Amino acid sequence: MIDYQPGLEGVPATRSSISYLDGKQGILTYRGYRIVDLARHSTYEETAYLLIDGELPTAEQLERFDTQLREHRRVKYNIHDIMKSLPVTGHPMEMLQTAVASLGMFYPNDVPVQIRSPGDESEQYVHGQSIRILARMATLVAMWQQLRLGNYPVRPSSDLSYAANFLYMFNGVEPDPLVARIMDVCFILHAEHTINASTFAAMVTGSTLAMPSYVIAAAIGTLAGPLHGGANEKVIQMLREIGSPEKVHSWLDKKLASKETIWGMGHREYKVKDPRATLLQELMKELAASRGEISPMFETALALEEACEEALAPKGVYPNVDFYSGILYQEMGIPPDQFTSMFAIPRTAGWLAHWREQVKANRIFRPTQIYEGYEPRDYKPVAERG
Ligand code: COA
Repeated sequence: MIDYQPGLEGVPATRSSISYLDGKQGILTYRGYRIVDLARHSTYEETAYLLIDGELPTAEQLERFDTQLREHRRVKYNIHDIMKSLPVTGHPMEMLQTAVASLGMFYPNDVPVQIRSPGDESEQYVHGQSIRILARMATLVAMWQQLRLGNYPVRPSSDLSYAANFLYMFNGVEPDPLVARIMDVCFILHAEHTINASTFAAMVTGSTLAMPSYVIAAAIGTLAGPLHGGANEKVIQMLREIGSPEKVHSWLDKKLASKETIWGMGHREYKVKDPRATLLQELMKELAASRGEISPMFETALALEEACEEALAPKGVYPNVDFYSGILYQEMGIPPDQFTSMFAIPRTAGWLAHWREQVKANRIFRPTQIYEGYEPRDYKPVAERG
């Protein structure tokens, strides 16, 4: 019997060829391509194709994929109605899970999702659904942003890239080209990350051959927690609480003395700085340079990273992807409670890629447990219990 590993640390849950990370060297690749190269040269559309399909597309394949994504940006009016009836005080991730789960009811199907041979009916269905879900994720997040402000949702524009259209629908104005490119790179950096908790949730749900709306809704719920995608929102709260770079050391000492979590720090796999954190930090610098000023929050974050280096680096705890993403989003005008949605939109590509991989060689997940409860015992009617 294999020893119990809390959190399944180090236990392989699947064979996968989607992404790879070397936590000691700080390397992350998607289908063998370094994240640094994808961030510098690719687009989110191309990266999503790479993740889902397995290879970089030819120009023609990319154009077809991009056109299909643009064609499926709109959602049925009934989804808009459901969203209108949700409380505006609800968290955007709760809305997103509800809206994605409801897609299955409005776009039903009876195609089995187990892929048995390349190009079979199921694979075509999985491919078609992947495009539809991916296209609509950005729409749902942006619609909610407008609805909760009391506005009518902005109609998607098929003239804009995935990231630029998202910002256009979210803010109601076309984005500045630099901001659109930064969003596109953020989407690339968040698109996939091996078998993390939300991806595992997607795989477990997918392994029951459930429909894709269930698969993505399960992943969204799992991403929402503060130990996973919810951490970037916590980072902003933490930096606000610290206030300024001079207060970092005394704040950190107190938190570490009371064994509290420093948000945006640490990772199960990385024992060096997360390569995505380095790239996000560079983007933040680029944005600051274009504006001619460094925000006080960014300065506080830089000071906190330096202070944490002394205290936490010996434990292999360094900034993770969430440490700088929230500050960047904040500078781009995205409200903190939408930060995790900024993670969910692009991660959908990774979830869909794993779903497809799962249903190609499926076996339902059914782990075992180490039972620590009672031996069988006799039932006593309530009147006889002392
Ligand atoms: N702040 C302070 N200490 C931390 C820490 C953090 N963010 N992350 C890890 N540590 C410490 C732990 O307290 C532990 O110390 P100990 O050995 O003295 O008990 C040590 O580092 C090892 O951490 P462990 O809890 O075993 O790591 P894990 O792999 O179980 O957890 C995370 C990984 C991501 C859940 C954890 O680092 C964390 O909670 N980070 C903050 C949340 C976050 O940013 N999540 C986003 C991840 S992308």
